[in-house]
Amino acid sequence: MIKRHLMVQRRSIPAWIGNFSSLTALLLIRNNFYGSVPYDLGRLSSLRFLELYANQLSGSVPDSIFNISSIYYFTVTQNHLQGQLPPDVGLTLPNLEIFAGGVNEFSGPIPVSLSNATKLEVIDFAENRLTGGFPTNLGKLQGLYRINFDENRLGQDAYSGFFFDTWNHSDRNWKPDQLDTLGLEENNLTGSVPDVIGKLQHLQGLSLNANRFSGQISSTIGNLTSLTSLLMEDNRLEGSIPPSLVNCRSLLVMNLTGNNLSGTIPKEVAGDIPSTLSSCASLETLLMEGNLLQGTIPESLGNLKGIVEIDLSRNNLSGRIPEFLGKLSSLKILHLSYNHFEGEVSRQGVFANASAISVLGND
Ligand SMILES: *[C@@H]1O[C@H](CO)[C@@H](O)[C@H](O)[C@H]1NC(C)=O
Ligand SMILES: *[C@@H]1O[C@H](CO)[C@@H](O)[C@H](O)[C@H]1NC(C)=O
Ligand SMILES: *[C@@H]1O[C@H](CO)[C@@H](O)[C@H](O)[C@H]1NC(C)=O
Ligand SMILES: *[C@@H]1O[C@H](CO)[C@@H](O)[C@H](O)[C@H]1NC(C)=O
Ligand SMILES: *[C@@H]1O[C@H](CO)[C@@H](O)[C@H](O)[C@H]1NC(C)=O
Ligand SMILES: *[C@@H]1O[C@H](CO)[C@@H](O)[C@H](O)[C@H]1NC(C)=O
Ligand SMILES: *[C@@H]1O[C@H](CO)[C@@H](O)[C@H](O)[C@H]1NC(C)=O
Repeated sequence: MIKRHLMVQRRSIPAWIGNFSSLTALLLIRNNFYGSVPYDLGRLSSLRFLELYANQLSGSVPDSIFNISSIYYFTVTQNHLQGQLPPDVGLTLPNLEIFAGGVNEFSGPIPVSLSNATKLEVIDFAENRLTGGFPTNLGKLQGLYRINFDENRLGQDAYSGFFFDTWNHSDRNWKPDQLDTLGLEENNLTGSVPDVIGKLQHLQGLSLNANRFSGQISSTIGNLTSLTSLLMEDNRLEGSIPPSLVNCRSLLVMNLTGNNLSGTIPKEVAGDIPSTLSSCASLETLLMEGNLLQGTIPESLGNLKGIVEIDLSRNNLSGRIPEFLGKLSSLKILHLSYNHFEGEVSRQGVFANASAISVLGND
């Protein structure tokens, strides 16, 4: 008895909503609607705005809805919807600006006709089961600022050529300037990442990780000065890291793990120990061994009153080993081996215990 009262009432979207023939916006976001999307919604012939995201909807989106030509904002993200996207969706929904259906179970190819919806700004179908290649003509869409097909199965079956190749060769009208996000992580895309990527000047997030990209990293990536996140891990990239990457001054995350890269990290990419580290007042452990740090140890690190362990070995640090390190009473372990430090070593604090420090391989 009690259980019955606590049960969440799950209801489907009522078909009679289709009778509101003047409705221009239907928003049913973040509810518990389950079951299929009613075919009758296709009778909302004035609808411009359809937001069904974050429900429990299943089945396929009825053709009748993909037939409402006035829709410009379409999001069904985070449901259990399946089926293919209609091949002609870009023709039946010519006003689309936002087209989003991420985190569902959509399958089949990305409709080539999307390039006919010339006002598109966002295409986001991350986390689905889409297969095939990339529509060769998306480059026509001048207003596009986000393309997200992270976590699909693109490239897995017979495959009609990758996006970038077609930028290089086909569409002279491509205006990629607006694009700030290009998400293709966790697909099965192959081939190299071509030079044309460097034209996406406003790109902030580029995720190509967990595919089968090969070849060298194009040096034109250095043109992407707004890039904050560059994810290329788990591919088959080879060669060295292009020195031009130093121009990507906005980068916050760069992951190149799990490739076949070789050579040294370009000197230009190496940096100083940031003096702002001193604002991490409760920092206890600072491990930066085996990088390309250069310059001196900043005085401001004297503010790390709680620091217990510092490892800066195997870098290119130089200058004197600062005395303040001997005054950090909490410091118990200090590794400075294999740098270019010179001069005498203090005898205070941590330096008094020979087994707590290592300074081998310096000048
Ligand atoms: C909705 O409209 C149909 C015909 O257009 C009509 O038969 C039906 O009764 C209407 N439903 C409601 C609940 O008004
Ligand atoms: C789509 O619209 C066309 C023209 O208005 C109509 O002939 C066709 O039956 C509609 N299809 C669906 C599935 O509603
Ligand atoms: C759709 O776009 C393609 C090129 O991408 C073009 O060849 C075709 O004519 C367009 N179709 C319509 C109906 O505009
Ligand atoms: C990529 O293809 C391989 C081999 O066909 C398959 O085992 C793997 O699951 C695919 N990965 C993705 C993310 O589709
Ligand atoms: C992009 O980078 C390449 C090589 O780093 C350079 O030659 C080219 O001029 C750059 N192009 C633009 C548009 O900045
Ligand atoms: C970088 O990629 C590797 C390999 O996939 C992963 O294990 C690691 O967590 C990533 N690092 C960050 C900071 O995301
Ligand atoms: C990695 O690169 C080396 C040297 O170029 C090559 O011999 C090896 O086959 C490559 N490994 C993979 C997994 O591509």
